[in-house]
Amino acid sequence: MSHAPRTQAQLTLTDLRATAAEGRKLVMVTAYDAPTAGIADAAGVDMILVGDSVGNVCLGFDSTLPVTMAMMRHHLEAVARAHPRAFLMADLPYLSYHLSPADALRNAGSLVRAGAQAVKLEGGRKRLDAIKALLDADIPVMGHLGLTPQSLHAMGGYRVQAKEATQALRLLEEAHALQEVGCFALLLEGIPAELGRRATESLAIPTIGIGAGPHCSGQVLVFHDVLGLIPGSGPKFVRTYLDGFGLLSEALGRWVGDVREGAFPGKAESYMLPDAARAALDAWTPPGSSPEAE
Ligand code: KIV
Repeated sequence: MSHAPRTQAQLTLTDLRATAAEGRKLVMVTAYDAPTAGIADAAGVDMILVGDSVGNVCLGFDSTLPVTMAMMRHHLEAVARAHPRAFLMADLPYLSYHLSPADALRNAGSLVRAGAQAVKLEGGRKRLDAIKALLDADIPVMGHLGLTPQSLHAMGGYRVQAKEATQALRLLEEAHALQEVGCFALLLEGIPAELGRRATESLAIPTIGIGAGPHCSGQVLVFHDVLGLIPGSGPKFVRTYLDGFGLLSEALGRWVGDVREGAFPGKAESYMLPDAARAALDAWTPPGSSPEAE
């Protein structure tokens, strides 16, 4: 099965800015392959993020740290082949933008070549040189502050960030530094809702929240979380709209039962011979078998 060619123009940064300027919420979801991109697009999202959460939800890792550029490109290319209408972004994975601005640019450039219209990277002031290098090559950048999963060990685990006054003020300063350098938007993850509101109200660029309260300019969630594809309870900030795991495994189980009972495949799922070929088959005897005695 292949995917249809592009039928609608893809959303651009200009479209996203217009949506935000009109005060309409931006909606982003992650996707990791052509079918998930197709579903996201059919649902009408503004942005698709090929997130490094691919490591957790598709590749079986327990963090995003093992995700490499090769993995990101592989999944991004699959999403891009679905020709989504949504604005397509990709995460720069751990250590792909930390070594030098030139390295960051090479890696971001390869994501753009694979179909990304923008990239996202984690961190504030420490990342300004890398961000400048990308912007200098006309690669739009979304910043990411608060709970930054690539800093898992430095943060001491996945925990809500910036609950203390000094940390909250530092986050606001970092947010403004990212705006100043030229990020087109800022993802805020795992911070108190009041801080999400303050950041959003004080910035001119849109904020996209995940566990950052309702006041952000937009929201993002992980595809598998929204659709309940992974059993077990997720973070507090997730709202699950479907028992995807339950529904899919129940449906697949019915097929398993049908196969075991001989109910699949039936006539509808089988190819039939034309009459003449069937008659020839009926008249055929296996080599070495004796013709029936008269
Ligand atoms: O990789 C990811 O899923 C993310 C989330 C914050 C959306 O970056």
